[in-house]
Amino acid sequence: MRSVKVIGIGTGGLDQLTLAAVRALGEVDRFLVADKGGETAELVRLRTELISRYAPKAEVVLVPDPPRDRSAERPGADGAGYLGHVAEWHAARARAYADRLAPANPAGESGTTGFLVWGDPAFYDSTLRIVDRIRGLGYDFELEVIPGISAPQALAAAHQIALNRIGSPVHITTGRRLRSEWSMELGDVVVMLDGHLTCRELVGRGLEIFWGAYLGSPDQVLRSGALDEVIDELVSLRAGLRAEHGWVMDTYLLRPLG
Ligand SMILES: C[S@@+](CC[C@H](N)C(=O)[O-])C[C@H]1O[C@@H](n2cnc3c(N)ncnc32)[C@H](O)[C@@H]1O
Repeated sequence: MRSVKVIGIGTGGLDQLTLAAVRALGEVDRFLVADKGGETAELVRLRTELISRYAPKAEVVLVPDPPRDRSAERPGADGAGYLGHVAEWHAARARAYADRLAPANPAGESGTTGFLVWGDPAFYDSTLRIVDRIRGLGYDFELEVIPGISAPQALAAAHQIALNRIGSPVHITTGRRLRSEWSMELGDVVVMLDGHLTCRELVGRGLEIFWGAYLGSPDQVLRSGALDEVIDELVSLRAGLRAEHGWVMDTYLLRPLG
């Protein structure tokens, strides 16, 4: 029986790998890696380093990413159009991966295919949906999913806070949805995938922010404080970091002050 492993690798350095991830990496015969073209050299370097350290004999197959029309992802873009577009893109990715699953190895045993997932597969990652679609195309395999440290966890640890207040929920959303979803009743809100610091539109609402970029890596940068007081600094800091590194990934928690 073929097997597939979806392995969360954490959001930063090699030291974020769990022991379960290290064990699973060593069992993979072939890694399928999306070739995103524009991906930063730093992210590619981290992935290559962890494969050569923990799975030196594994084969790495780059799979060209099907083209994606990002116009449907703009803030305010029609939600149904966005979801339909993403579904089409996932189907194209599934077809591209299905043809490249690890074949039987020289000992005649079924090969193991590995997918590396930034952070944890449970948060804003399409790998598990795509693996499901590969099954839907008629491919049979055992699946193992290894959790990793996700950006919200790394954010909380870095700021030495819990994400929820006692007995209260946490809402996790994207920058694209923040403006339409936010209300004071939501309480604590974690925002991911926000290239525009959309929280600037919530100035004057009595919020506190806990912000982090490059979380879990040696380049980690943190800021916190009353949103109204720190937002100007955050906007210029983020722009400066982006210019310096060529990319930036950030996550933040918004919570009512007091
Ligand atoms: C496509 S999602 C992937 C999330 C990932 N699966 C996880 O568990 O964190 C990418 C978003 O995750 C957040 N993110 C990922 N890595 C990060 C990091 N090292 N520092 C800050 N935010 C990060 C950012 O909000 C980024 O826009």
